[in-house]
This record gives sequence, structure tokens and C-alpha cells, in this order.
Amino acid sequence: MADTVNNAVTMEKLVSLAKRRGFVFQSSEIYGGLSSAWDYGPLGVELKNRVRDFWWREMTQLHDDIVGLDAAIMMHPRVWEASGHVANFTDPLVDCKNCKNRFREDQLPEDNRRARRCPECGGPLTEPRNFNLMFKTHIGPVEDEASVVYLRPETAQGIYVNFRNVVQSSRVKIPFGIAQIGKAFRNEITTKNFIFRTCEFEQMEMQFFVKPDEDGRWFEHWKSERMAYYAKLGVRPEKLRFRQHGADELAFYAKIAFDIEYEFPFGWKELEGIHDRTNYDLSRHAEYSGKDLNFLDEESHERYIPYIIETSAGLTRTVLMILADAYEEQEVPGEEESRVVMHFHPKIAPITVGVFPLVKKDGLAEIAREIEKGLREDFSTFYDQGGAIGRRYRRQDEIGTPYCLTVDYQTKEDKTVTLRFRDSMEQIRVPISELSERIRTEIKAYKRVGS
Ligand code: GAP
Repeated sequence: MADTVNNAVTMEKLVSLAKRRGFVFQSSEIYGGLSSAWDYGPLGVELKNRVRDFWWREMTQLHDDIVGLDAAIMMHPRVWEASGHVANFTDPLVDCKNCKNRFREDQLPEDNRRARRCPECGGPLTEPRNFNLMFKTHIGPVEDEASVVYLRPETAQGIYVNFRNVVQSSRVKIPFGIAQIGKAFRNEITTKNFIFRTCEFEQMEMQFFVKPDEDGRWFEHWKSERMAYYAKLGVRPEKLRFRQHGADELAFYAKIAFDIEYEFPFGWKELEGIHDRTNYDLSRHAEYSGKDLNFLDEESHERYIPYIIETSAGLTRTVLMILADAYEEQEVPGEEESRVVMHFHPKIAPITVGVFPLVKKDGLAEIAREIEKGLREDFSTFYDQGGAIGRRYRRQDEIGTPYCLTVDYQTKEDKTVTLRFRDSMEQIRVPISELSERIRTEIKAYKRVGS
């Protein structure tokens, strides 16, 4: 068993690994980079897609009362007037008159806020002014007020404006949910900490429509469901907690809100928001569109505008959380170099199985290739025949591949291979004919080994 050498994962280590191994690159890097924008590389896109698919399965397929939706990013501008975003989706912006740095006033340390002095250089700060976070653009060739459209700052509104369509076209009955995953855009004043807060990001949101007097019960239900989801995703429970929003920080649409927070290398921060949005959104859309958004309960014959319980998680922020949570550096007995291991849950690991011949010659490479091709149908695989076997294992550990197979001389005799487990580094012999089944069983029973 290996010992952890350094449990304190730093952002420097994560950013460096992400770049070196092709998880995340700086956007437009060859031009000096665009601040706050990031590109997902070959392994990053696999990880992100798997997290996305995991959420989708958990939030739609595993519930018979939740359906999906994929709405357009650009919507009628009246949507954002009705939603309150044009008037209220603002941050208080302050500038340092001396060093010209820009801050969100509500995020300044208490002392700086009171003294109105810059946290960077101690210079004087300007009065706060409200800055709307929505990106504005125009549809069509004329850039006038009539052609203004916004890039959506949350995916939620696409669901609300389709509420009637979904009720009329599918057989949903309250209580039911609509789930959506997609890009959202916010002109954030401060973007730091890698992919944690960016101007372009992805959200995974589910809006659950309930009877007006049942919101409290459903709010509690979704709070516990969402925490349980992270355990299924393989996240260490001691790194997660709830935090209730105080009255002064509630979003303009929320009656009650809890964040699920994760302990990132830079502290406890929001990962997901769970909000009781009451009937605010649908009432406003009914008012602004002039359409009837009441729900007619066929059994009780009641008509009402449903209340909405929202669960809203950042997909790109979840990827950062997963990277931070997975990272471990271990000392391996008898080895000089420490090993970096990413403990991704096998369900979301970019590569599930690495396949290696011990050596290229004597037909071992051909057998390994054959095995790898056979496993491709069921798993994401990677074939590697270069370098010492120990190095090949290390390379897979560092990108979080949970299982590696090695074909050796014994394989030719008894048709078995070595199956090596990433977390424990334990090795066992498994018949080639049983590999698929064995890996499937291991994925289901996975429990993280190590810290
Ligand atoms: N529809 C509700 C809503 O958008 P939010 O708390 O503003 O609520 C929900 O955002 C989640 O979206 C956050 O918990 C976070 O994970 C993610 N998110 C918000 N702004 C983000 C940004 N600038 N960059 C990355 N993720 C962001």
C-alpha cells in the first residue's frame, strides 16, 4: 500500500497536470490566451462529457417524472425583462483609482469594504456602480435597440418558456421536472481560479414543478437527492457541505436557497445551488407574454401556477471539483519518484482500460491489440506499447485510468492476462474470456482506495 505524500492539492499542480496531459488548455494560447476562457483537450472533453452523461442519466432516465429539453441559447429579449435579469442581474463594481484593478464590491474582504481601500495596493476605491452581467449582441445586420439579443446567463429560462409546450406535448403531471444541460454566459468581473468562474460555462439544471403548498417538502427532497448524487459520483463526502443563503444574498427570484459547497484548494465554494423559486418565474412570464401558464390538475380540478424547485449545478465547475477531488500524490515503497494518481470514479474516467503488451516482440503486441479491439465495444480503451511497463502504469495513473491489462508470456500459455487496479496497484490474473464481465463488475463495486 502506498502512503500519501502530499494531500494538499494546489491549483498550480492541477493546472499543470491539466495542461500536460490534455485535459484543459488556455483558450487561444498561441495568441497569448483569452483570459477566463478555456478549451477542453482530448481527455478533458471525455471527462466533461462523462460527467454530463452521468448527470443526465441520474436526473432524467432514473426518474419517470423528469423529462429533458434543449433550448436555444439566444431567446426573445422580453424573456430577460420578464425574468428580472435586465433589471436585477447586476454586480456592484468598484475600481481602484491607483492600480486600476477591478473588484466586485460584495466579494471584498470586510476591512477593505469598510475602508474603501484596494485589497491589492491599498489605494482608494471608486463608488460601486451596478454592472449587468448579460452579454448583449444583435441579430441581423442592423445594430439597433430592436435587434438586441442576450446570450442566456442561465439555462433555466429556456425551461420556463417551454413549460406550456412540455405540458401539452407530453403526458407529464405535477409534480414533474424538466432537465437541461447547456452553455450559459456571464460577463463576470472577476474570473480566477482556472475553470471555476468563467464568462462562458455549462450548467446542468433541473426545474421541478410542484403544487404551491408542497414546495417545502420538495425542496428538502431535492436537497438530499442532490447530495446523494455526489456520493454516487465518487466525491469524498467530507469535502461537501450545505450552506444556506442569508436573506441579504438570496438571488432576486429565490425564497430559500442552499448551496452545495466543495472544499476547493482555494476554500469552500459553491458547486451547485438549490432554490425555491416560488411561482415567480412562471407568473412573470404569464404577465409579460399574456399567455396562460396555469396548470390544470385534472384530478382535483384545481388551476394554479406551479412553484418551482430548481437544482442548478455547473458542469465545468464540477469538472474542476472532480480534478481536485481525484488528485493524490503517493510515495511508493521501493520507488524513488512519487506517483500522481487521479482517483476518478470508473464511470467518468476518460479511459477505462489501458492495454499493454509486456514487450512488443514474440507476438505479444498482436495479442494485446486483439484484446484491446475486443474491449472497445464496451469500454473506452487505450493501447500503449512504449517504454517500461512501470512507466506505462504511471502514465495511466496520472490520467485516472482505473484498470490496466498486461499481456505477457504466460498469456500465450494459459490465455490469462494481468489486471492491475489503479488505486491499490494490486494485480491479479484474469482469463481473457472473462475480462469484459470482470471489468463491468469492478466498475459497479468500485470503492476508492487511498486518500
Ligand atoms: N438558474 C440558477 C442559477 O443560475 P447560480 O447559482 O447563479 O444559479 C448555478 O448558478 C451554478 O452554475 C453555480 O452553482 C455554478 O456551479 C455555476 N456557475 C455560475 N456562474 C458560473 C461561472 N461564471 N463560471 C462557472 N460556473 C458558474
